[in-house]
Amino acid sequence: MWKNLIFCVVLVAFVAVPFADSLTCSKCNSPSGCKSPSSETCSNSTANANKNFLEGYHSNVPTVNGSLNFSCANLTYYHAANYTHTFEFLGCVFNETNVCNLSLNNTSSGWSKKCLTCGTDYCNPAGTFSSSVYTILGSAMAVILAKALS
Ligand SMILES: *[C@@H]1O[C@H](CO)[C@@H](O)[C@H](O)[C@H]1NC(C)=O
Ligand SMILES: *[C@@H]1O[C@H](CO)[C@@H](O)[C@H](O)[C@H]1NC(C)=O
Ligand SMILES: *[C@@H]1O[C@H](CO)[C@@H](O)[C@H](O)[C@H]1NC(C)=O
Ligand SMILES: *[C@@H]1O[C@H](CO)[C@@H](O)[C@H](O)[C@H]1NC(C)=O
Ligand SMILES: *[C@@H]1O[C@H](CO)[C@@H](O)[C@H](O)[C@H]1NC(C)=O
Ligand SMILES: *[C@@H]1O[C@H](CO)[C@@H](O)[C@H](O)[C@H]1NC(C)=O
Ligand SMILES: *[C@@H]1O[C@H](CO)[C@@H](O)[C@H](O)[C@H]1NC(C)=O
Ligand SMILES: *[C@@H]1O[C@H](CO)[C@@H](O)[C@H](O)[C@H]1NC(C)=O
Ligand SMILES: *[C@@H]1O[C@H](CO)[C@@H](O)[C@H](O)[C@H]1NC(C)=O
Repeated sequence: MWKNLIFCVVLVAFVAVPFADSLTCSKCNSPSGCKSPSSETCSNSTANANKNFLEGYHSNVPTVNGSLNFSCANLTYYHAANYTHTFEFLGCVFNETNVCNLSLNNTSSGWSKKCLTCGTDYCNPAGTFSSSVYTILGSAMAVILAKALS
């Protein structure tokens, strides 16, 4: 009885953690910095700081003063000729910022754009330690623990 209870608690704890409420995104704001991004948790203040950063480069950033709905973004500009990244931004944005719909101040530079937004932890770079890895690890540990207790 107790073993079963402990087993369930451990299982729920490990499986539930990656789906916790606050979203965590990779974070960087330059092509060199994005070679090793840091991370940030989505909140009104982090998304607001990123909004201010984007305002420096884009002319149509909507004025949002907080949101309950955030996304992780990877917004990259590059030279189509040689794929040299000219601007790279990863971070947490308000859903309402529409980060992939922003227009650069200077269209003269001829930059091409790649942009994505997504809504799971660390989903904005292609592959770091994904939440499914955590889930597998967590389940494995729960099984081991259950065996040790039985
Ligand atoms: C881009 O435009 C915004 C708003 O028009 C302005 O605040 C910002 O300074 C401009 N940035 C550059 C680099 O010209
Ligand atoms: C954003 O909302 C907060 C709290 O309601 C308020 O204090 C602040 O002045 C607002 N900022 C802007 C730019 O509207
Ligand atoms: C963030 O802003 C939204 C909309 O203004 C507000 O409803 C929410 O309570 C704010 N969250 C925090 C933690 O301040
Ligand atoms: C946030 O917005 C996205 C895109 O519109 C939507 O799919 C998602 O359900 C929303 N999440 C919440 C918590 O409102
Ligand atoms: C890539 O192409 C752009 C535009 O043709 C050029 O300005 C830039 O110097 C090139 N960068 C490299 C590293 O070759
Ligand atoms: C998120 O943004 C999309 C696109 O602008 C919009 O359709 C949707 O209603 C937004 N969701 C929320 C919860 O604000
Ligand atoms: C982005 O801009 C295009 C063209 O201006 C528009 O059709 C589209 O609805 C916009 N998307 C969002 C999410 O606002
Ligand atoms: C962008 O515009 C600003 C001011 O309008 C100017 O100083 C800067 O040289 C422009 N950059 C490019 C790449 O055209
Ligand atoms: C962001 O997206 C660009 C274009 O898809 C990609 O080349 C770059 O590696 C991404 N950045 C990170 C840190 O994954």
